[in-house]
Amino acid sequence: MNRSYLSPKTEPRPSKIHGLGLFAKTAIAAGEIVAVKGGHILTSETWRALEPTLGSAEIQITDNLFIAPATAAERDGSMVYSNHSCEPNIGIQGQIVFVAMRDISAGEELTHDWATTDDSDYTMDCRCGKPSCRKIITGKDWMKPDLQAKYKGWFCWFIQRKIDAHSMRESR
Ligand SMILES: C[S@@+](CC[C@H](N)C(=O)[O-])C[C@H]1O[C@@H](n2cnc3c(N)ncnc32)[C@H](O)[C@@H]1O
Ligand SMILES: [Zn+2]
Repeated sequence: MNRSYLSPKTEPRPSKIHGLGLFAKTAIAAGEIVAVKGGHILTSETWRALEPTLGSAEIQITDNLFIAPATAAERDGSMVYSNHSCEPNIGIQGQIVFVAMRDISAGEELTHDWATTDDSDYTMDCRCGKPSCRKIITGKDWMKPDLQAKYKGWFCWFIQRKIDAHSMRESR
């Protein structure tokens, strides 16, 4: 049984960006839900212990909590398969719901910008291939003012709270 929901208009397929990506099987209208992340609520300590075996399969929901599979058998059914892109076509609303940011054509890969969902310490060489590619993606990209402006309304809840706290400190 799958723990994440993938819209019937989507399916995982091999991606030029990395491994499997999530793709539109049919046209998807702006605002449609394309996926909802499911799994277990795990502390960062528990997830860090599982991650070397399970690989990247989590979504962060607060500083210390993640939603992720707990076993290898659960991994596939918990994956949303959204690769990162610097010009994404889906975005997060709340903590676990992924929504089309614009009208999407059949065959397009569905990607989100990890700046909107991640607050951690990684660095990744980006292979999204978009002209505006940042080349190096970090787990702290949410702090960049240009990305905060670009993705206004598209940051997950716990990151939006950090952005709000930073801007309140600066306006004092
Ligand atoms: C949650 S998985 C995404 C699904 C993954 N493609 C799969 O087949 O399992 C995250 C991993 O995908 C890879 N990835 C996603 N977007 C990428 C990008 N833009 N450039 C390079 N690697 C990327 C990274 O290796 C990352 O650790
Ligand atoms: Zn990129």
